[in-house]
Order: sequence, then structure tokens, then C-alpha cells
Amino acid sequence: MSENTRPRRSVLYMPGSKARALEKARMLASDALILDLEDAVAPSAKDEAREQVCAAVAQGGYGQRELAIRVNGLDTPWGRDDLAAAFKAKPDAILVPKVSTLEDMAAIRAAFAAAKVGGAIALWIMMETPLAMLNARELAGAAADSHAPLSCLVMGTNDLAKETGASLDHGRFAMIPWLATCVAAAKANGLSVIDGVYNDFRNIEGLAAECAQGRALGMDGKTLIHPDQLETTNRIFAPSEAEVERARAVIAAFALPENAGKGAIDIDGRMVELLHRDIARRTVAKAEAIAALE
Ligand code: COA
Ligand code: MG
Repeated sequence: MSENTRPRRSVLYMPGSKARALEKARMLASDALILDLEDAVAPSAKDEAREQVCAAVAQGGYGQRELAIRVNGLDTPWGRDDLAAAFKAKPDAILVPKVSTLEDMAAIRAAFAAAKVGGAIALWIMMETPLAMLNARELAGAAADSHAPLSCLVMGTNDLAKETGASLDHGRFAMIPWLATCVAAAKANGLSVIDGVYNDFRNIEGLAAECAQGRALGMDGKTLIHPDQLETTNRIFAPSEAEVERARAVIAAFALPENAGKGAIDIDGRMVELLHRDIARRTVAKAEAIAALE
């Protein structure tokens, strides 16, 4: 499946120190999983979590779920050991936190190049510092790299709130400019972009509203912290039946002989252009990719 059509509606974090979560994740309906060695793991549990996560990845059994290991930052006491172990375990992706500058990217790329994994492991980066918001264009622009192919930006809204003082309340109005900037940076470079977590994990109504907001912004999916958040997220980030039906109608209308060679047509009183057929094809492709996954 190509990077662009790979569904990443739901991306569930789990603490690498929790054996039960690593085990349970093999059965959960999450498009992707982030096995975390960073913020969800206490300093005293770092070594054990690293061993446990890498053993779980090497053992497999996660089916179609895309697997990412989130390492500690390269400037922490654990980052280098995490990376070395992750390269051996061979997940689909390695997620590096707190990337802020092109110098950070260069250090990460050098580590990937030295590991000689030949581009088989994708690079995902956390977008969670004030500098990363200001450098989003440059960071996403560093996408093409034969050793460390960048494929995904992951919003770290809790760290952003911590570092900037901006609030996550009131519909995240304070975060919207940064979220939208990261969507533009990702899409300009053919990358996926995944929204931040919703902390109040027992509040499914609140989650649904934030998923809808993320989707409206152009996010491809949402990072999650609890299995109870999966169903809502998978539903909202998938094209609805009505959307797929409308998309098929647009494709069919342009295929009619009387519409051959036309750039814009009228469907039920709405102007539909060839660009809408492109969107419609994308919608159908996405729905098919999701169906294939499920
Ligand atoms: N991934 C996989 N399984 C998870 C999970 C996760 N993120 N969160 C909970 N579960 C499992 C539990 O193991 C439990 O399974 P079981 O009943 O079969 O044993 C079940 O789901 C219910 O869990 P529950 O009791 O409701 O949650 P909790 O109170 O134990 O934990 C959290 C709540 C928030 C601490 C926990 O969900 C968690 O650690 N989430 C991830 C946090 C994280 O990774 N943060 C870093 C990025 S922001
Ligand atoms: Mg973080």
C-alpha cells in the first residue's frame, strides 16, 4: 500500500512498560500503534520498556497494524540505546520526539544512515515544540531521504501546551494556527499528519468533536491513549457511506458521453469540477483501503 493511501485514522499510544497493553494491542482495531519509550515511561522503567517493546516488535503478531516505536530524544541518556535497539527490532517506523530544527533532523538522519537499514524503516517526527511550529515547512521539506524516509508528522499537543502556555480548552482555538500550519507542511510534501491526543479519555462526545475538528483541518487521523477511543476515531476519519456514494456519483457523471471533455458540470444544482473528481477518486480509494484493512 502506498504511503498516501495507507489509512492512519487511529494511532494508539501505549506505554512500553505495560506488557498487558503491548499484548492487547495485537487484537485492537487501530490502524497504527505507537509503542512508547518516551513520555509514558518513567526513567526507572526505561531499560525494561526498551527490551519489552523490541521483543514484542520482533515477535510480531500485529497483523496489518502499522508499528512505530517512539524513542527518547537523541539528547537524553536513553535516546541512542533506544535507536540502536529499534533498528534491530525493525518496526515500520521510528518516531522521534521533540524535533525542532534542521540540525535535529541531520542528527537523526546520520543515525539512520549509520544503521544501514536502507530506507526500510520510515521516520516519523513529533511536532511538539514552539520551534517546530516555526520550522514546520523546513522540517517537512526534509522528507526525501534514502536512509530516513520521513512519512508522518505527529502532533504533540500536550507538549505544545506545556511549552507555549497555549490552552487545549475551548475547542483548541489557540492551537488551530499551528495545527493548520503542520497540515500544510505535511501535504506540501506528501506526508501524513496525525492530530494530538484527547486526554479526557472517558468523554467520547468530546473526543468525537475533536476528531471532527481534526478531520475538518485536514488531519489524516488522531493519536489515541485508550482503546475506548478507537471506534469513534475510526468512524469519523473514514469517509462516510454518504460521502462514498456522492464520490461515486461524481466519478460516474464525468464518465457520461455528454460530459466528455467538460471541465465543470452541474450535479443536482451544484457546480462540480474535474478537481472534485480527483477528490472523489481519493475518497473511494481511501474507503477501499479501509475496507481492505478491516
Ligand atoms: N493501549 C493498549 N491497551 C490499553 C491502553 C493502551 N493505550 N490503555 C488501556 N489499555 C487496556 C488495559 O490494559 C485494559 O486491558 P484489560 O482490561 O484487558 O487488562 C483495558 O484497556 C482497560 O483499561 P483501563 O482500566 O480503562 O485503563 P487504565 O485506567 O488502566 O489506564 C491510562 C488509563 C490513560 C493510564 C492508559 O490508558 C494509558 O496508559 N494510555 C496510554 C498513555 C500513553 O501512552 N501516553 C503517551 C502518549 S500521550
Ligand atoms: Mg511529547
